[in-house]
Amino acid sequence: MTHENIFWSEGQVTQQQRWARMGHKGCVVWLTGLSGSGKSTLSRGLERELFASGLHAFVLDGDNLRHGLNSNLGFSHEDRTENIRRASEVGCLLASAGHVAIIALISPYRQDRQVAREVARAGGCEFVEIFVDAPLNVCEQRDRKDLYRRARAGEIRDFTGIDAPYEAPENPEIRVRTGELSIEACLALMLESLVPRLRLDPS
Ligand code: ADX
Repeated sequence: MTHENIFWSEGQVTQQQRWARMGHKGCVVWLTGLSGSGKSTLSRGLERELFASGLHAFVLDGDNLRHGLNSNLGFSHEDRTENIRRASEVGCLLASAGHVAIIALISPYRQDRQVAREVARAGGCEFVEIFVDAPLNVCEQRDRKDLYRRARAGEIRDFTGIDAPYEAPENPEIRVRTGELSIEACLALMLESLVPRLRLDPS
């Protein structure tokens, strides 16, 4: 796509002013992991805890986005890339407005997550990648949505971890092993690392 004949309009309220009013920085918090690894649970818990502490947090959940903004997308590599691109752009807008945008998507490809990171950085926002790390056999045993069984039975194609890849992050800012730790312990780890990053720079 070219951007011919399209102009950028500058606002008169700066990002710093918005963040100062919010009392913390905006940020994109990106949770990646297999289906059933605990992304949605942890993102909701994180949102609840941040909100309870007076911060502005908002979850963009992969399953939910696929009911609306991304309802025209499937699970091909190309569609997943577009799914992640849209979520990262929306996340960056929320973060620019001063929210902690918590994005929970499988986002199986490293390159797509790298693009999400660059989108946030280009918008002047920090990007914090959280690897929600649970082994495939643990996710498959949980199988709350009955999707792994159906994927094994050949009823669902291109299922992440079964017949579509998952590329684990190499250097995530935060890694939580949800197969070994309780939800509360994972949340404590996430908050400990995240909250200091949200503090405003001294002016
Ligand atoms: S992503 O790969 O594009 O990031 P996303 O997080 O939006 O995926 O959606 C994943 C959710 O869609 C899963 O939690 C699961 O409920 C559902 N789903 C349906 N089909 C698939 C599939 N083929 N692979 C993975 N998840 C699927």
